[in-house]
Amino acid sequence: MKESTLLKQALRQVMSGQVPAAADPYRPGWHLAPAVGLLNDPNGFIQHNGRYHLFYQWNPLACAHGAKFWGHWSSADLLHWRHEPLALAPSEAFESHGCYSGSAVTDHGQLTLIYTGNVKYADGSRTAFQCLARQNAEGGFDKIGPVLDLPAGYSGHVRDPKVWRHNNHWYMVLGAQDLTLRGKVLLLRSEDLLSWHTLGEIAGSGLNGLGEFGYMWECPDLFRLADHDVLLCCPQGLPAEADHYLNTFQSGYFVGQLDHQSAHFPHGDFSELDLGFEFYAPQTTQTDDGRRLLIGWMGIPDGDEFYQPTVEQGWIHTMTCPRELTLVAGKIIQQPARELQQLRGTMQQWQGIAMDAPIWDITQAEVEIETDHPFSADFGSDLQLQWDGEWLRLTRNNRRSGLPEQRVWRGHLRHLSVLSDRSSIEIFINGGESVMSSRYFPALPARLTLKGDRQITLRHWSLADCVIE
Ligand code: FRU
Repeated sequence: MKESTLLKQALRQVMSGQVPAAADPYRPGWHLAPAVGLLNDPNGFIQHNGRYHLFYQWNPLACAHGAKFWGHWSSADLLHWRHEPLALAPSEAFESHGCYSGSAVTDHGQLTLIYTGNVKYADGSRTAFQCLARQNAEGGFDKIGPVLDLPAGYSGHVRDPKVWRHNNHWYMVLGAQDLTLRGKVLLLRSEDLLSWHTLGEIAGSGLNGLGEFGYMWECPDLFRLADHDVLLCCPQGLPAEADHYLNTFQSGYFVGQLDHQSAHFPHGDFSELDLGFEFYAPQTTQTDDGRRLLIGWMGIPDGDEFYQPTVEQGWIHTMTCPRELTLVAGKIIQQPARELQQLRGTMQQWQGIAMDAPIWDITQAEVEIETDHPFSADFGSDLQLQWDGEWLRLTRNNRRSGLPEQRVWRGHLRHLSVLSDRSSIEIFINGGESVMSSRYFPALPARLTLKGDRQITLRHWSLADCVIE
């Protein structure tokens, strides 16, 4: 469908209170998805005055990347979400090609956004401004404008500011590409959010003992977890290895100790955050009760938008579920936020030989699988999970080529927790040691079929809808 037709139709339906996507059986029941158009990165995730706010990269005009706006939801409990007024639209010269990703802070009691104004020129070159906007009494945002121009020594790819408060200063990490086309993360400091001083590169391709590691690092996030500093980032340009870096772009983390004065960040190896087919650009926040929560984009910037059936209903992509992070033996453990347990219906438990298991409805469900014996699980489409005693393989046919593709995890399997929501699956391995997140489009209602001739223990809950007002 042409952009203009889609826009007109979307506006007509939104104005008359009928969001087109609402009728789509693949629309998630308890994950966040856009009313119309394309959603990508979570932005500005924060608990402000006790209420959660989640913003998102949004092209309301088409199911394709293009003009980027900031949509906005809020929630008191991570379960009941409310649409808030549009937060940012690319209306000014300093953001002419999109209000790109960024973060939110509470500054003197005011919800304040820091985002990237993306600007492209006719000759193909580009620049980026880091910009500020403050919430007004109507719940919208007033733009203060750019607070940081392109730093010297970097290409026009400098974006995705994540800001936090530490020892009475503001700090920012920024994704960047240097002039030798290596991906970097910059650390900056400010006293007032308005003027920023670059402290240096804390990590990147060719730094801290890392070899060549990608041409651009997007969406950095830095936070303290169990007496360590964790840097999340999304390196672009890592060559695929047999069982790593299999998506177009990667999302992972380094654990280390950051010296906020010298910008030194000695760190360990890069670990992938998620081993599924769709996961990118996660962002975290610290909750009032001291938890570190993460939400990611259940998508990949690779052009898949032309191959997902929801496009016919005028929308594409969802967020992951909110996840609680802990750090155990230097590795991030991810678990579905505990609030989500309130969505569970009655538990059904079953024990026996895998192939004798009842065929459960997993349209919106949580299924726990306990076994260390080989088995396979069919999720009601071509998406299948196989455990052979050494490798866990998630397979499907590539939506574009039709050819089989797989994502893998290797280890000692004890426990799987599978959370499904109409067109997505998030598989938490061994209590969150690893996660595989993927979109899929099963015949609905979706059914789980197991194969295998060994003992297995299963628990099943159906999950209620999250209410979106
Ligand atoms: C990551 C990303 C960010 C950018 C945004 C634009 O998916 O490319 O680097 O700010 O998306 O929508």
